[in-house]
Amino acid sequence: MTTVRLTVNGVQREIDVAPGTLLVHAIREQVGLTGTHVGCLTGDCGACTVVVDGATTKSCSVLAHSADGATVETVESLADGEELHPVQRAFWDEFGFQCGFCLPGMLLTAKELIESTPDPDDADIHRAINGNLCRCTGYNTIVAAVRRAAKEAS
Ligand code: FES
Repeated sequence: MTTVRLTVNGVQREIDVAPGTLLVHAIREQVGLTGTHVGCLTGDCGACTVVVDGATTKSCSVLAHSADGATVETVESLADGEELHPVQRAFWDEFGFQCGFCLPGMLLTAKELIESTPDPDDADIHRAINGNLCRCTGYNTIVAAVRRAAKEAS
């Protein structure tokens, strides 16, 4: 076992992980935050997207021990109690989800896009969510939600 120190959503955590433990499993099973989803485990679907040291990261592609000392933000960091984050509200208003499996990754990816590109066009949005797959194929409303979130943030 290796001790890993993480700051997750502003809270310092110390967890013991077995060799080979993926960050997504550490977040879900040891930190106890299950908003981060497990999909393909091959880095393709984006369901496991979190923010590590400021950059969206597929947490199935990171060994937990290699994230020692990192700051991690998960989807649980977005809402303030019952108050949705503006990006969450835009997805709600545009019905930017169906089954919701891809939603945590989509939200964090959208937030990062809007922070780096305040007025994204559709090509920017398509490029940003390229690594986040929606198994319901509800991309039109997802793109509309990101567009709305960007507009409301400006
Ligand atoms: Fe990580 Fe699919 S579970 S990209």
